[in-house]
Amino acid sequence: MEKRANFGSKLGIVLASAGSAVGLGNVWRFPTEVGENGGAAFILVYVLCVIILGLPLMVSEFVIGRRTHKNTADAYRELAPGSAWIFQGYLGVFTAWFILCYYGVVSGWTLKYLVSGFIGELHRVTDSADYFVQFSSSTWAPVVYMAVVMLMCHVVIVRGVQTGIERFSKLMMPLLLLIIALLVVFSFSMPGSADGLRFLLKPDFSKIDSSVILSAMGQAFFSLSIGMGCLCTYASYFTDDAKLVKTAGSVAAIDTTVAVMSGFIIFPAVFSVEAVAPDAGPGLVFITLPNVFQIAFGNVAWLGWLFSVLFYLLLLLAALTSMVSIHEPPTAFLLEHFNLRRSTATTIVTSVCIGVGMLCSLSFGLLADFRPLFGLTFFDFFDFVSAKIFLPVGGIIISLFVGWRLSSDMVFDELSNHGHLHVPRWAFSVYIFLLRWLIPLAIMAIFLKELGVF
Ligand code: TRP
Repeated sequence: MEKRANFGSKLGIVLASAGSAVGLGNVWRFPTEVGENGGAAFILVYVLCVIILGLPLMVSEFVIGRRTHKNTADAYRELAPGSAWIFQGYLGVFTAWFILCYYGVVSGWTLKYLVSGFIGELHRVTDSADYFVQFSSSTWAPVVYMAVVMLMCHVVIVRGVQTGIERFSKLMMPLLLLIIALLVVFSFSMPGSADGLRFLLKPDFSKIDSSVILSAMGQAFFSLSIGMGCLCTYASYFTDDAKLVKTAGSVAAIDTTVAVMSGFIIFPAVFSVEAVAPDAGPGLVFITLPNVFQIAFGNVAWLGWLFSVLFYLLLLLAALTSMVSIHEPPTAFLLEHFNLRRSTATTIVTSVCIGVGMLCSLSFGLLADFRPLFGLTFFDFFDFVSAKIFLPVGGIIISLFVGWRLSSDMVFDELSNHGHLHVPRWAFSVYIFLLRWLIPLAIMAIFLKELGVF
C-alpha cells in the first residue's frame, strides 16, 4: 500500500490548522458581534467559550483524526465499526461541501474588492452601498470571481498535503499575521481612533444575556472550525509525535488574537471617520469600510489606498486558507474511499462547488426570487442548513462520540502520545465530563435558539 501523506513539521501542523480557523469568521463576523453585544464583556464571554467548549471539541477532532489516520468517513468506520456513528463521518464530508459552496461566493467578493482597491476604482466610488449591490447582484462578475478563488484553492489542494496545504499555510499565515500588525498600526494612527478603542474595550455587562452567550458559543465554534471534520481530516495527517493539546491551544490562541486584532483594526478606523458604531453583516466590510478608506487619511490618498489593499488582501488570505481546509475533507474522502487519483478527486469537488456556488452567487441577483427550498434563496439555504443545523448537530455527535463511545483509555493514550507526555488525570476527567455533559447541552441550547424554539 502507498504510504499515506502527512504534514512534515510541527510548525506546519500549527499553521495549517490555524489557517483553517482564521477566516472570514474572525475578520468580518467577530468584530460585528463584539460591537453589537457589549464590547469587552462579549470578548470575555467569547474567550470563556473558546476555553471551556471549543478547546475540548478541537482536541476531540484531533483524537479521531490522528488515531485513525483516515479521512473523516472512514475514521468513524474504523473506530466504531458497523454502528450508526458512521453517519457523522458522512455528515462531515457533506457539510464541508455545503459550506464551501457559499463561503466561496463571499471569498470571491473579497478578491473583487482587492482588485478594485488596487486599481483605484474603490477610491472613486461615490455611493459604496450602491456599488456593492450593483456588483453582488450582477450575473457574471461575482461568478467569475468565485470561480477564480475556487481554482486558487484547487491548485493548492491538488498538490497534496505537504507541498500543497502545508507549504501554502507556511507562506500565507506569517504574511497574514504581518498584515494584521501593520493594519493595527495604521488604524491606531488615525485621528479620533481612541473613541473606537474605547467603544471596543468598554465592558458593557448589561448587554450580556442568554442570547448573547449563545451567540458567543456559536461564533466560537464557527471560528475554530469545529463540527464537521475539517480539523479531524487535518489531524489525520499529523505525525505521531505532534502534541494534540498543545497544538489545539496554539490554534485557539492564534485564532482569538486575530479576531480581537480585527476589532482593533475596524473599530478605530470606522470611528475616526463616522463616530458611530458600524452596522452589521456584509455592510461593514463591503460598504462602510470602503468609505473609511476613501476619507481616512485626508489628502494623503496613497495611505488610504494602501490601507484598503492590505485589508482586502488580509480578508482574501484568511478566506483562502480556510477554503483549503474545507476542500480537503471531501477530497480526502473521494480519494481514499473510491481509490481515485488526487487530481480526479480534487476536480470533482471543485467542479461541484463552482456549479452550486454559481446558484448561490446568482441568488443575489437573477435568482433572488427563486426560493424553492424553505422560502430561502440558495445562498441563505446553504448558509442556514450548514452553519445552523449540520455544524451544531456535528458538534453534539463528536462530543458524545469521544465522551461516551470511545474508551477513555484509548483517548488518554492518544492525548499522552502513548504515555510519552504528561497529562494530569484530573484534567483528563474534567475533559471527559465536559464532553459528556456540558458541551452537548450547550450546543443543544444554541441549536434550539437558532431554530427559534426559544
Ligand atoms: N473557521 C473559519 C472562519 O472563521 C471557517 C471554517 C473553516 C469552518 N472550516 C470550518 C467553520 C469548519 C466551521 C467548520 O471563517
